[in-house]
Amino acid sequence: MTRAVTAILPESSLAVANRDEMLARIAVRCMECGERFTGADVFTSCPACGGLLDVVIPTKRTILPADFGVELPDSARHSGVWRYAPLLPILPPDSLVSRWEGNTPLYRDDRLTHFAGLRDGHLELKHEGHNPTASFKDRGMTVGVSHAKAVGARIVACASTGNTSASLAAYAAAAGIPALVLVPDTHVAVGKLAQTIAYGAKVVQIDGDFDRALLLLRELTAAYDVYLVNSVNPFRLEGQKTIIFEMLEQRGWQAPDWIVLPGGNLGNTSSFGKALIELQAVGLIDRLPRLAVIQAEGAAPFAAYHASGFEEYVPVHAATVATAIKIGNPASTPRARRSIELTNGWVTTVSDEDILGAKAVIDRAGIGCEPASAASLAGLRRLVREGVVLPHETAVALLTGHILKDTEAVTAFHFDDVQGTARSGANRPVRVAAELPALERALADALHG
Ligand code: F0G
Repeated sequence: MTRAVTAILPESSLAVANRDEMLARIAVRCMECGERFTGADVFTSCPACGGLLDVVIPTKRTILPADFGVELPDSARHSGVWRYAPLLPILPPDSLVSRWEGNTPLYRDDRLTHFAGLRDGHLELKHEGHNPTASFKDRGMTVGVSHAKAVGARIVACASTGNTSASLAAYAAAAGIPALVLVPDTHVAVGKLAQTIAYGAKVVQIDGDFDRALLLLRELTAAYDVYLVNSVNPFRLEGQKTIIFEMLEQRGWQAPDWIVLPGGNLGNTSSFGKALIELQAVGLIDRLPRLAVIQAEGAAPFAAYHASGFEEYVPVHAATVATAIKIGNPASTPRARRSIELTNGWVTTVSDEDILGAKAVIDRAGIGCEPASAASLAGLRRLVREGVVLPHETAVALLTGHILKDTEAVTAFHFDDVQGTARSGANRPVRVAAELPALERALADALHG
């Protein structure tokens, strides 16, 4: 399939290690004022108007399924992100920082389909918890950190509710670049913090929430030569597009009716819209699925914005058990709005109880996920009940993070009483004497549920 590859990865591009030339060939454009930049510029907002930036992918030609996964440099041979190089910015091969990210499963389990209210076989779950650091962030990070390396960044940084920091810490360690992360001093799941520390990032806990941390970090990166890797970085979003590419490839390039995902800082929402438009432009899909973004009730400024017909945007002070999406002023709001408008999408909310209930169902199916991920299934169920999604329609729900990311949420669900009694479905370990009769009773209980 050298035809398309030649069009996209000119032979010389793999051989010529002229970084500056390759970076200069990448087009970046402000979504607000249209000002153009190149991949050699290190901006996370437009210096002219402050708008968000997009990497421009050439889509004026046909791309075939067989064009993916060919002629990859050794540095990224097994990557489930870089296999989609024809629809990604072309970075110098010796800058690529990869850890076999992507390649995640697309599960079916009709217990979950029934829970959502769809017909058998009509729901699939794309489990991004099966990435190297156990969340979808690794897909964006391989592109963001590779770009940082290509432009010669001396330090990379992010603000995070926990997963971005874990991922950045790992990829920065892989690249040999120091990393600085800002996290809220409360409500970051211990597993995520543990990863970030272990991978060697400098962790700064601030007396404030995620929104404050991101604001502060943007001030810091504007004043100092620090490479910002939050999803305002257009390169990060390029990597996250591959969730859509891989999911559609797994479905034989047949689009579902709906793609349902949790919304926090709205990076995925932004990149999914872009991915779908590009796939349609190069002829790989013939219709656009609708995006349904689900926010936690206590952290839902985008849902309120959508409900106002995108007339009135009001940031909130966020509160939710799903700490990953505890965000009150999503940085990618204008890009996410574009995705919803382009795909005739929808935005709704779910309560913390709905999130925990859906998570318990996902966990009990032997799939498991962290609380924020379960917002997608809880939200789909709500949309089916409200008649927005119809039972005969097909959906793919995104699971964004692994069950072990937030074990505190698991133990709280199963061990803590609610108003003096255990929750229904709580599964508490039993302590028994180290004797056979006691075990026999436990065996009988296990058998009868
Ligand atoms: N699910 C999980 C597990 C997340 O970690 C995040 C975001 C989201 C969903 C929301 O995705 O921001 O693209 O809308 N976590 C970021 C972090 C904010 O710092 O780890 P989004």
